[in-house]
Amino acid sequence: MANIRYVKVADKKEAAEVVLERMREELAGGLEVLGLATGSTMEPIYAAWADSNLDFSRVISFNLDEYVGLGADNPNSYAWFMNHHLFSKKPFKETNIPDGTSGDLEEECEEYEARLRDAGIDLQFLGVGENGHIAFNEPGTPFTSITHLTQLTESTLGVNSQYFEDRSEIPETALTMGISSILSAKKIILIAFGEKKRHALEQLIKGKETTKYPITALLSHPDVTIITDLDGIK
Ligand code: GLP
Repeated sequence: MANIRYVKVADKKEAAEVVLERMREELAGGLEVLGLATGSTMEPIYAAWADSNLDFSRVISFNLDEYVGLGADNPNSYAWFMNHHLFSKKPFKETNIPDGTSGDLEEECEEYEARLRDAGIDLQFLGVGENGHIAFNEPGTPFTSITHLTQLTESTLGVNSQYFEDRSEIPETALTMGISSILSAKKIILIAFGEKKRHALEQLIKGKETTKYPITALLSHPDVTIITDLDGIK
């Protein structure tokens, strides 16, 4: 597909180098609003940024998602992840993460969506779930969705519970940017490592949009880069 560019890398280290170079160009080109992702995929990427001379002090960030009920002091929250891997090492002008501890989650989603639409995301980073989810938009989520409260699937709970001491500790709900929120970014970079992600990427390559695989929503976006260590993905 003409709107999607595939970049094959040898490993996570090369991916981090490729992304670092791209960030350098984007910042030099005047990037102001950056969409950020969490997950193990992003760890080497943020480590490379933290070690670099990249300057984010004029950048506003928006994160994709957050577990309901987990605050920034909880090591399993995405707020904690971002502080630990990036924000404590690189100052940003402003950072935004949905507040999963808000007393009014519906209002939190509405406000978050308004803030990100108002800012306008220049570049959005994405990972992908094994079931093809992007952010926490699980299979079946409409492509028109905006920031919302979502119920996590058994597949996602199973995969993500590895980070929790006890399976029963993982929240079953989360706040997530919607698919339409994500598609509103001017540019998108999706990073996927390892065979576990092959099935999801193959759905994209098939070139047919289906809500069964949220990743296929990217087919309608004008500027997507996929960075992967998987062979035969193009
Ligand atoms: C979580 C996040 C997603 C992320 C996915 C992949 O479910 N909500 O935004 O893309 O995990 O995680 P990992 O990078 O650890 O494979």
